[in-house]
Amino acid sequence: MTYEILKMEAAEGVAVITISRPQALNALNTRFFQEMDSLIAEISPRDDIKVLIITGEGKAFVAGADIAEMVHKTQAEGKEFSKWGQRTFRSLELLAKPVIAAVNGFALGGGSELALACDFRIASAKAKFGQPEVNLGVIPGYAATQRLPRLIGLGNALFLLLTGEMIGAEDALRMGLVQKVVEPEQLMPTALGLAKTIASKGPQAVKRVKQAARRGLLMDFDAGCALESEMFGLLFENEAAEGMRAFLEKRAPKW
Ligand code: CAA
Repeated sequence: MTYEILKMEAAEGVAVITISRPQALNALNTRFFQEMDSLIAEISPRDDIKVLIITGEGKAFVAGADIAEMVHKTQAEGKEFSKWGQRTFRSLELLAKPVIAAVNGFALGGGSELALACDFRIASAKAKFGQPEVNLGVIPGYAATQRLPRLIGLGNALFLLLTGEMIGAEDALRMGLVQKVVEPEQLMPTALGLAKTIASKGPQAVKRVKQAARRGLLMDFDAGCALESEMFGLLFENEAAEGMRAFLEKRAPKW
C-alpha cells in the first residue's frame, strides 16, 4: 500500500512511525486506520525491526478521531468506527515488539487512546492530554474507558473522562499517564535512546516480557504467574543460556 499519512523510518532495530496529517492536527480518519493496519502487518514479521516509536508531525501527537468524518455517521457506522479503532489499537498492543509513544503535542480523545495502547509514553513538556469526548456529546470509542482506569486508577480516569479537561505533561506524569517528561528538543533523542536500549536486550526476553505482562493483566494472579513460569522456562531453550554465560564470562552477549 502507498502511505499518505504514515511515514516510517527504520534504522538500528528501531522504526519511527510519524503520523503526518498536520493540517488536521493528525486527526484519525478511515485512511489512517487502513494505513495503520497495513503497516502493523508489514512490521510484524520483520526481524530487523525490534522496537517501534510512534509520534506526530507538527504541534499535535493526535488531536483525536476525525470529527469532520464522524459527524456524518449513523449509529451502526459509529459502532463500526469504534470497533475498527479498538481492533487496530489492540493489534498494536499485542504486537510482539515494544511500542513507545513519543508524545510531541496534543494527545486528545483518540490520540490519547493511541498513546494508551502503546507500551509506555514519553512526553514533551509541551504535550497536552485529555479525553474531551464529552464536550462533543460522545464518549471515547477506542477503549479509553477501559484502558485509563486500569492504567491510572478509576479516580484519575473519571476525572479526565467526565470533565474533558486538558492536562499538561507534568500532571500526566503525576497521574502515571506518562513515564517521563523531557524538553521538546529532547523528545526524539530520549525515545530513540530508550528504543535502542531495548533493542540491545535479548530479543526473545523482550518479546516474552511484554507478552507476560500484557496477557497476565487479563488473567487472575495465579494464572498470570503460571504464564510467567512457562515463558521463563521457554527462554532457557534459547537465549538465556547465552545471556547468562556471557555474564559469567564477563563479555557482551551475542544474541
Ligand atoms: N478532527 C478533525 N479536525 C480536527 C480535529 C479533530 N479531532 N482537531 C483539530 N482539527 C482541525 C481543526 O478543525 C482545524 O482545521 P481548519 O484549519 O480546517 O479549521 C485544524 O485541525 C487546526 O485546529 P485548530 O484551529 O482548532 O487548532 P488550535 O490550536 O486552535 O486548537 C485543539 C487545538 C485544542 C486541539 C483543537 O483543535 C481541538 O479542540 N480539537 C478537537 C479535540 C477533540 O475534541 N478530540 C476528540 C475527538 S472525539 C474522539 O476522539 C472520539 C474517540 O475516542 C473515537
